Amino acid sequence: MSLKYGCFSDDGKEFIMKTPLLPRPWINYLTNERYCAIISQCAGGYSFYLDCRTDRILRWLPEGWHFDRPGRYLYIRDITNPKKPYIWSATYQPLRVEPDYFQARHGLGYTVIESLYNGIRVKITYYVPDIDDCEIWWVSLVNQTKKPHKLELYPYVEWLIGDYHMELRYRNIMNLYNRVWFDAETQSIFAKKTAFWQDLNIQPFKYICFFASSLPVKKCATRKNAFLGKYNTEEKPESIIKGSMKDITFCSGEDGIACFQHRVELKAGETKEFSICLGQLEAEKVKRIINKYRDLENVKKEFQNTKAIWEKRILDNIWVKTPDKDFDLLVNIWLKYQLYICNFWSRSPSYYHEGSGGRGYRDSCQDSESIVSINPELTRKRILKIASLIRQDGTSCPGWSDTLGPHQFRPNKDHQVWLTSTVYAYVKETGDKEILNEVVPYLKDKWVGGWRVDPHFSGGPTHEEEGSLFEHLEKNLLFTFNDVGKRGLPLIGHADWNDAIDAAGIKLKGESVWLAEALVRSLKQLAELAQLIGKKDKAEEFLEKAKIMSERIEKCAWDGDWYVRGFTDYDEVYGSKNNEEGKIFINAQAWAILAGIPDEGKTKKIVNAVKKYLDGPHGLALFYPAYSKFNPHLGRISMFSEGTKENAAVFCHASTFMITALLKIGEGDFAYESMRKLMPNKQKDYDLYKTEPYVYAEYLVGPQHPYLYGEGAFTWITGTSGWTFMAATEWLLGIRHDFEGLIIDPCLPSGWKKTFIRRHFRGATYEIEIENPQGVNKGIKEVYLDGRKIETNLIKPHSDGKIHQIRVIMG
Ligand code: GLC
Repeated sequence: MSLKYGCFSDDGKEFIMKTPLLPRPWINYLTNERYCAIISQCAGGYSFYLDCRTDRILRWLPEGWHFDRPGRYLYIRDITNPKKPYIWSATYQPLRVEPDYFQARHGLGYTVIESLYNGIRVKITYYVPDIDDCEIWWVSLVNQTKKPHKLELYPYVEWLIGDYHMELRYRNIMNLYNRVWFDAETQSIFAKKTAFWQDLNIQPFKYICFFASSLPVKKCATRKNAFLGKYNTEEKPESIIKGSMKDITFCSGEDGIACFQHRVELKAGETKEFSICLGQLEAEKVKRIINKYRDLENVKKEFQNTKAIWEKRILDNIWVKTPDKDFDLLVNIWLKYQLYICNFWSRSPSYYHEGSGGRGYRDSCQDSESIVSINPELTRKRILKIASLIRQDGTSCPGWSDTLGPHQFRPNKDHQVWLTSTVYAYVKETGDKEILNEVVPYLKDKWVGGWRVDPHFSGGPTHEEEGSLFEHLEKNLLFTFNDVGKRGLPLIGHADWNDAIDAAGIKLKGESVWLAEALVRSLKQLAELAQLIGKKDKAEEFLEKAKIMSERIEKCAWDGDWYVRGFTDYDEVYGSKNNEEGKIFINAQAWAILAGIPDEGKTKKIVNAVKKYLDGPHGLALFYPAYSKFNPHLGRISMFSEGTKENAAVFCHASTFMITALLKIGEGDFAYESMRKLMPNKQKDYDLYKTEPYVYAEYLVGPQHPYLYGEGAFTWITGTSGWTFMAATEWLLGIRHDFEGLIIDPCLPSGWKKTFIRRHFRGATYEIEIENPQGVNKGIKEVYLDGRKIETNLIKPHSDGKIHQIRVIMG
């Protein structure tokens, strides 16, 4: 694939950008799950430790896309001729002097930015070592001219330090807590806030931020104002432009920066390397880290280690080969990479989101479900963590932060239904049914029924009583089963999966059809889990409840050709043919099928309706038509301009629910076609699409937008990655874990005559060739296991550490 702005490397492991002037910043996440540096093709972006809200280290301005600053910069002054210095920055930003050559590469766990100007080639490799919580810039300078050059180098960052949201609200106050100083002993710049102040909690600041270079320091700058000069930004720093940098070794109660002045001389053809190490750590750890990464051998060694760890994570598991190379590239590399970033950082740190920190409950459930086939240990760890957020009354708290603990705000009503699916997938993948007996604490906090605040509760969340994981799941689902409105459908409250239907049920009357369907699906899954551990009565009870809920759905939600989406507090239907706007919603259709509710006749009608109302050149829209006026009985969904975000965008996460449902019922062509339209590397016009070609967007602007239909938005951290990975591997290629083994049940586009998938499963590896000579969508004629014909499409686990060959003939 060749794109206007860049392309994938031949081995697919890097995305290479040929110009700094992309339609939007295209970013990468450099992270070891604790430290994270977000970086664009021009080195813009910010860093944080453990939580992107409470422990931001570097500043990046939320006007983001428009100018992508500040970042991790290296200013260069070539003073070979002191009367006529050449001044530029190695990463194009922030000085924006046009380079003679530019290339940025985002790889798995690293980013390399290379430029050539004035005969000096600079290459900076940015990465976060897997083993140490800091970030490294490995810089190499080459004099490509025939003359010696004298250079002044100025590596530069701007500190934020502390709580990003407090900083946004109290910009005038927060910098008064700043202390930045040059530490003569370690020749580094250190920075901190005097205390960590977050809402009403004040604690001493636990860490030191540090910035160290392997080159000798001539001068340093710590105060932003003094360094940039009056009315300047980093685009015109007076100290650099005029060559007037003063040695300012401390900053108190002002905006802080870290910048060194280094001098190097490069002979003709000579190469010199140096490193920058920066981060935030407990004081006693700082010195060791600084010293370690001043040694370029360590810089290179840890770079190789980190790269190898990322490659193993990404490459050494599911691997596919299909007629669609773009599909393969996503499934084999970039979707998995995106899925890891979602699992590590949930939905908060990005160039688009509000950065409120923490991890969302349902997002984490879905992320950890979808990574189970490539990293079941991670799923297990997350399941037990998430289960500890369930209260005795069965409600789930909306998420947690690794620095602040369980979230303490009003949740959406759907949290309760998600963890069951994650556990279901985990047990099917690993066979580890014992996890259901794991004892997990219940959360005790001020929320009653997840909704009201208990006036007698004092103190913060605690964990007092405990119960098995199974019991947690049971309480979860029973809560939602009983938390219903007059039709017997679950209340939508403050919103369900769709964050923006946030006013339909605030009087606790409005109901959600989608949530009813999701509950049916989870009840059926829990019934299977109950059966598996010998709890027959429970299994029957859950199935009975699933049946009751399905009947209620059929009774009040079937609208003739599709399912309605819900009912408001005022008893108005939404998502119905009787609505002028918001007539048909994709979720209510997809999840009815996923939950196994509609019969064949209804299923056909649903598919036709989806084709007629929701399909378009850029994929399946969230609903149709968009809301053009504010509707206070629905909420924020009607506030977004038409086609953006939840107001009828092509919301890829939800489109993929439908794609999965289509694959489930054998609609291989329509499903693949819909999938293809969302693929970031298959867009037709990147000036329209604008966002990264290597990771999924949360949504593409929808058809009713007056002029942006097809533009990508909110990339990277979206449930789309997980659902697409599951849809592609488990439903399209159809290799699915089950309690008893691996099920082989592809649903292919009819044009695919031959595909291949390699997969590890319970201690053995399976290499599966699927032949489709007649071009069917679904159906298996013959299966061969290690050359022998077998009469089933269920492969029992071998667990023998060996590779097994499977040949499947469809027809
Ligand atoms: C965002 C949120 C997700 C939510 C969806 C729909 O993707 O991360 O939790 O379900 O929007 O509102």
